[in-house]
Amino acid sequence: MVDFAAMADDLSRILSADLEDEADLVVEGTLRPRTLDEYIGQREVKANLSVLLAAARGRGEAADHVLLYGPPGLGKTTLATIIARELGVNVKYASGPAIERAGDLAAILTSLEERDVLFIDEIHRLNRAVEEILYPAMEDYALDVMIGKGPSARSLRLNLKPFTLVGATTRAGRISSPLRDRFGATYRLDFYTEPELAAIVDRSATILGVSIEAAATNAIARRGRGTPRIVNRLLKRVRDHAQVHGDGNVDEATATAAMRAMEIDDEGLDSTDRKLLAAIVQKFASGPVGVAALAAVLSEEVETIEDVYEPFLLRLAFIDRTPQGRIATDLARAHLSGLGYEIPPPRGSDPGSPGLWDLPAAPDVPETGDA
Ligand code: ADE
Repeated sequence: MVDFAAMADDLSRILSADLEDEADLVVEGTLRPRTLDEYIGQREVKANLSVLLAAARGRGEAADHVLLYGPPGLGKTTLATIIARELGVNVKYASGPAIERAGDLAAILTSLEERDVLFIDEIHRLNRAVEEILYPAMEDYALDVMIGKGPSARSLRLNLKPFTLVGATTRAGRISSPLRDRFGATYRLDFYTEPELAAIVDRSATILGVSIEAAATNAIARRGRGTPRIVNRLLKRVRDHAQVHGDGNVDEATATAAMRAMEIDDEGLDSTDRKLLAAIVQKFASGPVGVAALAAVLSEEVETIEDVYEPFLLRLAFIDRTPQGRIATDLARAHLSGLGYEIPPPRGSDPGSPGLWDLPAAPDVPETGDA
């Protein structure tokens, strides 16, 4: 229930032009595809979304609410922007943690025009009071408002204009089921393939006016961790390198030299990824180790490790999640060893020590929660 008096009057505090950091905003702003046709990859999501949007357009109605989930940098904000554009409506951007009070959300909802898109990033981080405002808003386009206080308090139902909520989260399992159930469509974004990333690099290079050789495009795509935001960032740095150290033309040698200077290795891992792997291998005898212990050793948030670093390491099969905690795999040890890291024997390899599966569960067994 919304307390009218507490409705936010300054929406700019909550709504953001975008959620990326500023340097990215400039690049991403120009590089982001504007239509589904321009959008590379996520074929299934695109196919489903285009039917959903065409149907809504055909009926002249607001599209159903859409939940997008997947690792950061895969294009959730971009898709929300495309959804609005394809529907010919406005989009407002907000994020879960920024919407602190029920009144904040009420103010946003009442500011929407007919069929507008409201994008809420990190929607799993909405607090309970705010989330409860969303239920009738999503279901009935209604806002339940409390007027007055104490015994004379009354509740009033206000109509909202029909709108489309696009929610984004790194993990569907983090969202409460009442909220999840109110989305008409849920799409999972997956890491991009190397050919898709290469196509994105080529498209971005064309937009930026960078001349790049195919081998350099592929070198960037190979180190892009399956993530468009990362390949676009690498492309920009490689371009800088070519401009300062060469003739501006990006060939393979320039690209690899630039990425080596950034400490990006051949698998696309950066120094934090390697620190994480090295911590498991060297400090915890390749695991298992609980994520909280890892976070403490690395001075990182548990959520950052789980959402930013682990998904790609899991995909490379460099780490594994077991009920006892994270383990570094043989592949990870081989990768680190190739880079000159010292590799102590993994736990369980010494006949005198307990095997992996004999250990008690780590106290901070991760919730994997993912769908
Ligand atoms: N730039 C960033 N993401 C992209 C995508 N999926 N398709 C095309 N260009 C992009």
